[in-house]
Amino acid sequence: MSSGVAVEAARVVDAGDYRVTIGAGLRHDLGRLVAAAAPAHHYAVLTDDDVAPHYGAALQAGLTRHGRVTMHRMRAGEAHKTRETWARLTDELLDAGCGRDTTVVALGGGVVGDVAGFVAATYMRGVPVVQCPTSLLAMIDASVGGKTGVDTAAGKNLVGAFHAPAAVLIDVETLRTLPAAHLRAGLAEAIKHGAVADAAYFARVEALLPLVLAGEPAATLELVARSVEIKATIVRADVREAGLRKTLNFGHTIGHAIEQASGYSLLHGEAVAVGMVLEARLAERIGVAERGTAREIERVVRAARLPVARPESLGPAAVLAATRHDKKARGGAVAYALPARVGAMAGAERDWAIEVGDSLVLEVLA
Ligand SMILES: NC(=O)c1ccc[n+]([C@@H]2O[C@H](COP(=O)([O-])OP(=O)(O)OC[C@H]3O[C@@H](n4cnc5c(N)ncnc54)[C@H](O)[C@@H]3O)[C@@H](O)[C@H]2O)c1
Ligand SMILES: [Zn+2]
Repeated sequence: MSSGVAVEAARVVDAGDYRVTIGAGLRHDLGRLVAAAAPAHHYAVLTDDDVAPHYGAALQAGLTRHGRVTMHRMRAGEAHKTRETWARLTDELLDAGCGRDTTVVALGGGVVGDVAGFVAATYMRGVPVVQCPTSLLAMIDASVGGKTGVDTAAGKNLVGAFHAPAAVLIDVETLRTLPAAHLRAGLAEAIKHGAVADAAYFARVEALLPLVLAGEPAATLELVARSVEIKATIVRADVREAGLRKTLNFGHTIGHAIEQASGYSLLHGEAVAVGMVLEARLAERIGVAERGTAREIERVVRAARLPVARPESLGPAAVLAATRHDKKARGGAVAYALPARVGAMAGAERDWAIEVGDSLVLEVLA
């Protein structure tokens, strides 16, 4: 077997119905791993214009040994995570003669993962998808948990489906070609995993940051594996986000608001970085978090060279207004996932959703 090295070095996380395999160099064996996880007559690889030139051909060649392969591309970027792209890709699969015995392979960042997952969820009422994430955000967040979907004019991720992958296959070496800003943005979610669930990991992330930013594979593998474990454990306990999964929204209520109010000029992870710092301050202010929680989070966010404050161009009132557009706002008051301290969340007795009045939110935004 030509693949001994990559697979021996790999870590496997059990996500319930599927496994997440994380290795350094796994891309050289990706076709075989995809075919082993979700054997099919036809493999439809969905990718984007930025990722295809790096990793498309090798995957295509690897898969050709296991069945028919067709490649399907979308333009890169959130602006193309739409029903139009979903419709075009679905038509391409129909034109290519993909039947029910098709495995969709998502090769790319979270945008490709979400669109490809939604194509797979709906194509012929559902075919398997194997997620092969190539951005840090997709590796530790988007590819795990089975949420798929597209954006509409009314907001992000408003049309979609839960569709768990057959497998997630991660090669951390693909991060070498990811633009540095996207690498840093992905680190925000790793910091979040530590803050939400594991104080020891939070400290470890701080130590690993410089190594990960320098592209060191062992450090990156450790970070990705532990983050995936944390996300998978939380999702397994609450797939449909009725309770515990809401803790993963830490930093995201203010984060989404800043992202939206900025017209998406900040990356998601950059907005979430600010959101975590401000929401931790909010948690201290209303007395659910230990003093110093926000300071600790701010220190690590800074170490990742991510922003810690609201962009000057966005006024507090505009950000506050945008928190109301978030789909987590119900019946007036906006609910937050807030920390009790680094490594533990507050509000178990309130389903992990703590309602906070506008005046307090304005104070931390000011
Ligand atoms: N389904 C979920 O549970 C979930 C969770 C979090 C985020 N998301 C979604 O994920 C999306 C964001 O994902 P993202 O940050 O990966 O953005 P992205 O998919 O747009 O990727 C960022 C950019 O990097 C490029 N890229 C990706 N990997 C690369 C590589 N290895 N080398 C070179 N270029 C590469 C992409 O083509 C794109 O241009 C959002 O749409 C968000 O809603 C989904
Ligand atoms: Zn996020």
